[in-house]
Amino acid sequence: MAPEEIIRKYYRPGSKAYEFLLTHSRQVAQKALQVARGSGLELDLKFLQEAAMLHDIGIFRTHAPLLGCYGSKPYICHGVLGRQILEAEGLVRHALVAERHVGVGLTVEDIRRNNFPLPLRDMTPQSLEEKLVSFADLFFSKVGDPLKEKSLKEVKPLIASWGQDKLRVFEDWLRLFRYPAG
Ligand SMILES: [Fe+2]
Repeated sequence: MAPEEIIRKYYRPGSKAYEFLLTHSRQVAQKALQVARGSGLELDLKFLQEAAMLHDIGIFRTHAPLLGCYGSKPYICHGVLGRQILEAEGLVRHALVAERHVGVGLTVEDIRRNNFPLPLRDMTPQSLEEKLVSFADLFFSKVGDPLKEKSLKEVKPLIASWGQDKLRVFEDWLRLFRYPAG
């Protein structure tokens, strides 16, 4: 399976959204593989790379003009939209990575409390690969320059601004993946 071929079914090469998606997804994939190697954990690296390349495929159906996306849905929906696209492609495992990667994952309570226009189901990463794509993505968050890798010192306050429970999830992942401190 070639992730870039699937991306080209939905994105026009040369468009702003395509260039952003490809650059961002390659960065996240590279980061995820690098963290995987340092973790000592047994991960499915082929699946990890593919899923990292495809995790944001739903963005073109959202309204994110800065990323060249002119869809009708709010950006928060891009994970679920990605799941729908990937399921239609027959990629059910990759689809779950897309749905569950937003932030450090969305709980039913998050969706309810924030009135997000999302189905009320648990959207937190479960498998190691799901967690790792979500984790790697946080180093390239869309706040500030989305293409510049953020340091741990920059990532943590952003996550803390979403809530202490979110920061705890992130800190669990730092330990899980034996991510170097500092
Ligand atoms: Fe995303």
